[in-house]
Amino acid sequence: MQTIKLAVQTIIRETEDAIAIYFRDELGQIPHFWPGQFLTLVLNVKGQNVRRSYSICTSPTALPVIGVCVKRVDGGLVSNHLLDTLQEGDVLEVLEPYGTFTLNYKMAVLPTLVLIGAGSGITPLMSMIKSTIEQVHAPKIHLFYGNRSENSIIFKEQLEQLEAKYPGKLEVTHLLSRASEGYTGIRSRIESKIMSALCSEKAIFADASANYYICGPDGMMHDVLHMLENQGIPKERVHKESFFLAHKPAEEVATSLPATDANDDGSRMIKLKLDGNVHEIKVPKGKYILETALSHGLDLPYACTMGVCGMCRAVKVQGEMFIEEQEAISESEIEDGACLTCVGMPVSHDLMIDYDAR
Ligand SMILES: Cc1cc2nc3c(=O)[nH]c(=O)nc-3n(C[C@H](O)[C@H](O)[C@H](O)COP(=O)(O)OP(=O)(O)OC[C@H]3O[C@@H](n4cnc5c(N)ncnc54)[C@H](O)[C@@H]3O)c2cc1C
Ligand code: FES
Repeated sequence: MQTIKLAVQTIIRETEDAIAIYFRDELGQIPHFWPGQFLTLVLNVKGQNVRRSYSICTSPTALPVIGVCVKRVDGGLVSNHLLDTLQEGDVLEVLEPYGTFTLNYKMAVLPTLVLIGAGSGITPLMSMIKSTIEQVHAPKIHLFYGNRSENSIIFKEQLEQLEAKYPGKLEVTHLLSRASEGYTGIRSRIESKIMSALCSEKAIFADASANYYICGPDGMMHDVLHMLENQGIPKERVHKESFFLAHKPAEEVATSLPATDANDDGSRMIKLKLDGNVHEIKVPKGKYILETALSHGLDLPYACTMGVCGMCRAVKVQGEMFIEEQEAISESEIEDGACLTCVGMPVSHDLMIDYDAR
């Protein structure tokens, strides 16, 4: 996949452990994107070639300026590198915007938006707010934003300014789990009980147009999704994005896969169709298809390598494969042939995967 180069125009320290990075795309290499999509940075950090995705926090209408926000992860390779060393004027390689956690802000009639985020999960929601609130028929936007304390609220000032500029359009509710003593707002994590109470109080459940966009840590997402299901909110109106999914080691995953006979060493010859060419590669036992194909020099699309971003999505044309826990494609899409190669292992000997049909 081709990368594009973007120069860092401004870096803003949003909190002690989060920075917003604004690029200026002078050459118009990114003509458009959908709010909710992410940029993938392609970097070499400490001698390792790595890719990390960061959701875009700006509106497409702000192009050629495009921004992302990075929050430090304890011990994290790239987030720490960016927070500690990135400087204005640096040029970064990125993959063009991608992602299906999106909002069509150009719709003639926009639904009520219920945005629920925690920590860095605010980033894609911020792009959704900025792109819709300036529309003539801007919808009502409810933002529920969870953080530890007042100091860890990313985009605090921007949110206050937007709320003041668009009274009645944007309603921000902060939930803080460890607020300082004098704090008079809501002291809670985002969890099902309080979210159910808040949505009832604001008559959100009664609004049949309301679309829910959720982004944050695993536990929070699970709680909110469960709560919405209990409230009978149809799945089509619920959208979610994960930033991280923990996995067992691949070797352990492979032990659960069936062997065909006593001589079966678990490796499989598979076919991958890419740019009109069919490549045959041997995937050893305990290896995922993507990592094996990359080690053979195939230029496959990917970013997260943990089954959340959806960039390695392809079509299974024939044969059987095992797909480890993932968040990027639905069960029905898998039944229709969609697969993720970053968390996919071949099961049968006749597996063929088509990247051109994706
Ligand atoms: C679609 C998508 C959009 C994203 N958008 C953003 C964004 O807008 N802002 C942002 O800050 N990050 C975002 N991320 C996460 C980001 O891509 C990196 O995963 C994150 O910065 C950590 O990378 P690292 O190299 O610092 O940590 P790594 O070196 O990859 O990981 C270090 C350790 O932390 C664990 N870990 C890694 N990430 C997390 C996490 N998120 N939560 C808990 N444990 C973790 C790992 O298991 C590992 O043990 C997004 C991810 C995806 C897939
Ligand atoms: S590379 Fe992200 S889902 Fe496969």
